[in-house]
Amino acid sequence: MYPYYRPRRLRENEIIRDLIAETKPDYNKLIMPYFVIEGVDSTQAIESMPGIQRLPIDNLLKQLDYDVKLGVRAIILFGIPYEKDEKASGAYDENGIVQKACREIKKHFPELLIITDVCLCEYTSHGHCGMVKGKQIDNDSTLELLAKTAVSHAMAGADIIAPSDMMDGRVEAIRQELDDKGFMTIPILSYAAKYASAFYGPFRDAAGSAPQFGDRRSYQMDYRNAHEALKEVYLDIDEGADIVMVKPALSYLDIIYRVKQSMELPVCAYNVSGEYSMVKAAGTLGFGDEAKLVREIMTAIFRAGADMVISYHTCDILKNRWFD
Ligand code: PBG
Repeated sequence: MYPYYRPRRLRENEIIRDLIAETKPDYNKLIMPYFVIEGVDSTQAIESMPGIQRLPIDNLLKQLDYDVKLGVRAIILFGIPYEKDEKASGAYDENGIVQKACREIKKHFPELLIITDVCLCEYTSHGHCGMVKGKQIDNDSTLELLAKTAVSHAMAGADIIAPSDMMDGRVEAIRQELDDKGFMTIPILSYAAKYASAFYGPFRDAAGSAPQFGDRRSYQMDYRNAHEALKEVYLDIDEGADIVMVKPALSYLDIIYRVKQSMELPVCAYNVSGEYSMVKAAGTLGFGDEAKLVREIMTAIFRAGADMVISYHTCDILKNRWFD
C-alpha cells in the first residue's frame, strides 16, 4: 500500500518501461487484405477506405512488388467479379478473379503466403453469403458451393482457406472436399465468431457486396452474445478449423480474450474496414494522431490474445515502422 508501494517507480523511463512491457506488437503477425477486381484496366480508389484500392491483377502485382519489400509476408485476397449472378458462379470458376490472381501471385512471389476469403456475397447478384430460397438464405445448398470454391482456390495456389460466410457446417464441408481432392495439408482459418456488424460498411462499398434485401443477421452473430462465440468456435474446431477468427476486433476484445483463454488453437483477429476508416478519418480531420492510434489499437488486440491480426493498416505500419 502507498507510500511503500509506488507503481510509478517502474514507469520512470523508457528503458524500465520496455523491460516490464508485457505485450509487443509484432510486424510478422500482420496480414494485409487486398481487393482484386476483374474486367477493368485501372486501379480504383475506395472512397470510404482512404489508402485502399480495388486493383486489377497487373496492378496488384506491382503493388505487391512494393509491399513485399516493405515486409508484407501474408495477404488475404478478396475478389470483385465482373459479373454477379444468383449462383455466385464467379466464386468457384477456375478462371475466376481470385483463382487467376492466386496463380499470378504465386508465379511472381512464391514466398508470399496467400489466404483466400471463401464466401459467396461478392459473387451473388443479391449480395448474400449463401443461396437464396424465397426470402431465406439456404444453409445446406450453400455448403457444396463453398467447398467447390475452396478447392478451386487451393488448386490455384492458395495457402490457407478462410471461409467467412457463417453457414453452419461449412468448415466440415470444406475440409472434406479439400481432403478428397488431395489438399489435406491446406489449413482452414475459419471466421468462427463473426458478428453482424456495422463496421463492415466500407468493405461492402469496396466489394459491392451489400445485401440487396434484408441483412446478414440470420447467419452472422448477434453482438449481444459472448458465450455463443465459444460455441461457434468449438463447433468450427470440431469440424476441422486450424485457426479461428474473431471479427471485428476493436469492439470485441472481450471475445478475443475469451476465445484465447478457452481454446488451444491460434486466434486471428480481423481489424475490419470500418475500424480502419474511423482511424483514417480521425487522422485526416486532425482529431487524433494516426500513428499513435494505430499502435495503441494493435497492441490492444494482441494484448487481448490475438496471435495474428488482419488489418488494412498493415502497409502503413510496416512503411512507417510504427511498432519500433
Ligand atoms: C464476406 C466478408 C465480409 C468481410 C470479410 N469477408 C463482409 C461481410 O460479411 O459483409 C468484412 C471485412 C471488413 O469489413 O473489412 N462475407
